Amino acid sequence: MKRIFLLLLALLPLLVGAQHTMFRPAQEWTDTEGRHINAHGGCLLQVGDTWYWYGEHRPYRGFTTEQGVVAYRSHDLMNWTPCGVVLAVSEAAGSPIERGCIMERPKVVFNASTGKYVMLFHLELKGRGYAAAQVGFAVSDSPTGPFTFLRALRPNAGRWPTEMRQKDIEVAQQQDGGDCECEWWTPAWRKAVRRGMFTARDHEGGQMSRDMTVFIDDDGKAYHITSSEENLTLHLNELTDDYLDFTGRYHRIAAGGQNEAPTLLKRNGTYWLICSGCTGWNPNEARMFSAQDLWGDWKQHPTPCRGEHAKTTFGGQGTYIFRMPDGRHVFMADVWNPRHLSESRHIWLPITFEDDGTPVVTWQDEWK
Ligand code: GAL
Repeated sequence: MKRIFLLLLALLPLLVGAQHTMFRPAQEWTDTEGRHINAHGGCLLQVGDTWYWYGEHRPYRGFTTEQGVVAYRSHDLMNWTPCGVVLAVSEAAGSPIERGCIMERPKVVFNASTGKYVMLFHLELKGRGYAAAQVGFAVSDSPTGPFTFLRALRPNAGRWPTEMRQKDIEVAQQQDGGDCECEWWTPAWRKAVRRGMFTARDHEGGQMSRDMTVFIDDDGKAYHITSSEENLTLHLNELTDDYLDFTGRYHRIAAGGQNEAPTLLKRNGTYWLICSGCTGWNPNEARMFSAQDLWGDWKQHPTPCRGEHAKTTFGGQGTYIFRMPDGRHVFMADVWNPRHLSESRHIWLPITFEDDGTPVVTWQDEWK
């Protein structure tokens, strides 16, 4: 009897899907049903003793969104059970989230004052490539949805960044068609970008928003950090207290620096922003910035990555940093497979800190 019981116990992982006991960055990562986890550009959220992993459900062929945003749940962060689609594409022609749109980098946060789960995501409209550059909002009473789509927009229409004074605004307005000859990538063009040429161009209709993350500060205030201005400049956008809209207060970070894939952590009063350069699906060297205040000044540091392939962020591109209840942080990245996006892999690595507080992400083939 005991033998049969032990045998059954040994076979259990095969019957219910293999149990993972280690993290193996960039290896295939199967869910409890034995399928590779199809949740990319994602984030984690802890609710009680359960973790939720949200991400882009990607097709095997092509790159548009055919299903929506999915979630998985886990109690140990290694073994994930699919919860299905939590924000579904719409079947209605003309809907901003019509099947065939592109939903990327979903971030779900809980708003303690309203009791709602709020999702922000990068949205591209069907048939328009990456031209729309909008951010979508969705809300749910439950972490597993269904999330209700609220709206999509370009942030901060009619607003100027907090740091731009009247004089700076006039200079920015003069750039487009003014003293800039506007041939892309020339030194004069770069200068015009830094001075806010695209901020001025998009002032009326709203600022572009592509790769993004959401960060909740200790006081519960939420911020949306996004790649704006043709992916040339990051914007820090303040969210309203219910997290369902922008307040109109925003700040430009590293103007003209071509940063995307933003991730953010706060430790001992310092904010650390880890992002990537702009090379599409191809990996590049991570960039890092720090600030004592989210509204600046931001100072650039070398990449936090160490070890083999550190120069290409180990073949990945950051998507989120999550904090364990005990204060440890984990860096999450995507290893994109543009031929078969659904098979893109995941890199999770612990973040350690040097004596002066600088984050370090060291490659490990496997870890616990
Ligand atoms: C990357 C970006 C991804 C996706 C991709 C599309 O630069 O980080 O989220 O938008 O481009 O080519």
